[in-house]
Amino acid sequence: MKVAYVQMEPTFLKPEINYSKAEELIRTAVDRGARLVVLPELFDTGYNFRSREEVLRIAGQIPDGPTTQFLMQLSRELGVFIVAGTAEKDEQGKLYNSAVITGPVGSGYIGKYRKVHLFYREKLFFEPGNLGFRVFNIGIAKIGVMVCFDWFFPESARTLALKGADIIAHPSNLVMPYAPRAMPIRALENRVYTVTANRIGEEFGLRFIGRSTIASPKAEVLAVGSEDGEEVGVVEIDLGLARDKRINEMNDILKDRRPEHYSL
Ligand code: ACM
Repeated sequence: MKVAYVQMEPTFLKPEINYSKAEELIRTAVDRGARLVVLPELFDTGYNFRSREEVLRIAGQIPDGPTTQFLMQLSRELGVFIVAGTAEKDEQGKLYNSAVITGPVGSGYIGKYRKVHLFYREKLFFEPGNLGFRVFNIGIAKIGVMVCFDWFFPESARTLALKGADIIAHPSNLVMPYAPRAMPIRALENRVYTVTANRIGEEFGLRFIGRSTIASPKAEVLAVGSEDGEEVGVVEIDLGLARDKRINEMNDILKDRRPEHYSL
């Protein structure tokens, strides 16, 4: 199975422009054989909001809003699974930094995740995620979803691994330099593949680091993006490796856990 990241620079508050750009890059990834494509966090709106009102005006409902509808349509047309970050407004007007997963089955809508660990000024606009960490069985693989700063909390990836994820899809807008080095370790310690799709560019003084990364259960970096280019990374992965949690004939990284010693 081939998986991909899309690395792009969203145009702030211009979803239509961002849909066109994302579509072009998703088509490139699918042409290169990708069955799962991961887009950055907030790929539709940009990131560095100045007020809650600004987010409220641009955020959409999931799945009825335009961003999820766009992704559902594209998934159905191209026969591809997509995980993408989007600004969500629920029926009560609460805002979430969410990710949706769509695929080529039925309506195309599979599910959503709401970012659990909000970073810095996101706390001014968004509610903390209230759905927990979710793993979506898409038939060909089990996909766990977390968003950007969730990586800083090893419990996020661990919870997804314990729930059976083979692959962690990780839409991101990274500003700190650490995740490209840390994600291969998240992949190693959970024996999963990780696909971090980051954005590039700058918004009101905030610079995003690019360097989208696909890592293997052996901590290999299978693909890494540039710091400033719009591009896709596509790699073949071996799901058997992610599903075998043994690291030798006597150690299994999930079965050998000793949770009775982990509580305070
Ligand atoms: C981040 O969570 N966007 C840094």
